[in-house]
Amino acid sequence: MGLNIQEVRSLLLANNQDHVLDRLERLKGPAKDKLAAQLGSIDFEALFRAIHDSTSLSEKLKEPMEPIPYVNETDIGEKEQQALNELGWSLLRTGKVGAVVVAGGQGSRLGHEGPKGTLDIGLPSGKSLFQLQAERLLNLSNRAGKTIPWYIMTSPQNQAATEMFFHAADWFGYPPEDIFLFQQQTMPVLDHNWKLLFAAEDELMVAPSGHGECFASLGKSGAIDDMKRRGLEWVFYYNVDNALIKIADPAFIGLAASHSNPIATKVIEKTDSEEKIGIVCLKNGRPAVVEYSEIQDDVKNLRDTAGRLFYNLGHISIHLFKLDFVERHADAGLDYHIASKKMAYIDENGSLVKPSEPNAYKLERFIFDLFPQANGLTVFKTKREEEFAPVKNKGGEDSPQSARRLVLDLHRSWLTAAGIAVEELHDHDIEISPLRSYSGEGLHEYKASGLSSE
Ligand code: UTP
Repeated sequence: MGLNIQEVRSLLLANNQDHVLDRLERLKGPAKDKLAAQLGSIDFEALFRAIHDSTSLSEKLKEPMEPIPYVNETDIGEKEQQALNELGWSLLRTGKVGAVVVAGGQGSRLGHEGPKGTLDIGLPSGKSLFQLQAERLLNLSNRAGKTIPWYIMTSPQNQAATEMFFHAADWFGYPPEDIFLFQQQTMPVLDHNWKLLFAAEDELMVAPSGHGECFASLGKSGAIDDMKRRGLEWVFYYNVDNALIKIADPAFIGLAASHSNPIATKVIEKTDSEEKIGIVCLKNGRPAVVEYSEIQDDVKNLRDTAGRLFYNLGHISIHLFKLDFVERHADAGLDYHIASKKMAYIDENGSLVKPSEPNAYKLERFIFDLFPQANGLTVFKTKREEEFAPVKNKGGEDSPQSARRLVLDLHRSWLTAAGIAVEELHDHDIEISPLRSYSGEGLHEYKASGLSSE
């Protein structure tokens, strides 16, 4: 990086981006200065290298795959479960765990105005995804007697809106000094002829370049230093758009800490080969995640003799990383994946074009491309209905409505487990505040006090 404008010009010319230089020539005054400044700030070397290297990623798809060993939650006996929980709690009590949420995505499929974490999925309380997460963390922090520091990855596009949302809500009762917002990187967007697109007459279009920017951005923002100063050992990583996320789950922390691997990941059973989640497996003998869009058809549909998917460990973006692993890989320079997306842009006449079909290539890094760097991966298979309610689309599958239903169904199951008769619940959609119960504990008093309290 750090190229002067002459070097930028040569790079653009060498990569068939003459239209950008023509535009720069045409502009005058502040508009010209603005575009020139932006051109000077973009890492074009990395961009064009990524485009040229994109074929090597397709080579990687052909690497041999095998299933990976895992621990199934349902196979763990009660005593061991208690021991894992206790180990997790002891790490929470001594302040060894922090949480990182990746919330820098554009949420283009959802189309919600504002950052995804500000979305209200329609629960009776009207709480946003961010509020649900803050309250789950507060529940554990209060019980542990130690606040879990919370690191929130935003993008240049949504940082201000995210910060304003938290401010306006008084940080949802979270100590502001324990919340750390940090911004991720972006990369230019190209059209399907590999030409750079414009977001305005005097501005190239850039987009957040994937959750794989997380460690680098933690490093650059000073968040890793903050983690070290606090004495953290583990970093709990999750997506902003999972309405059921059990952030900093003590049992998961306990399991990760009882193994010597630098990464642990939660998985769920994938039953439908077309479900849009990746698979956790071994590739070339190393831990790996294969993204759903990159799974070969014959592999995707492979079944064992009992008819179950052969590769059935579904990836749900819930990980624990050892802090020293995060630090060692903050400069990893992961490869970019190229995704085709529908993106509005400004054409050469200055008009806004809103395409109806995917028209643009976005470059994205994926955090799980670091998995092969780990000597081992602890894989924890958990229950889908307790852990996974993704909010990706406006309606239908993986939408606010489906996530709302999953949250309310889980809360209903907690209440029935606490001894409330099903008939009593029949007409009620009861939401349990995370401040009251993290995962169904402590609900027996509902039985005594009736159902109107929440
Ligand atoms: P997705 O890949 O589902 O992307 O992100 P998205 O931006 O939410 O939605 P679409 O694809 O545009 O519809 C999975 C998680 O990774 C985060 C998202 O915020 C989400 O929590 N993410 C994604 C980032 O933090 N940065 C990115 O550049 C991309």
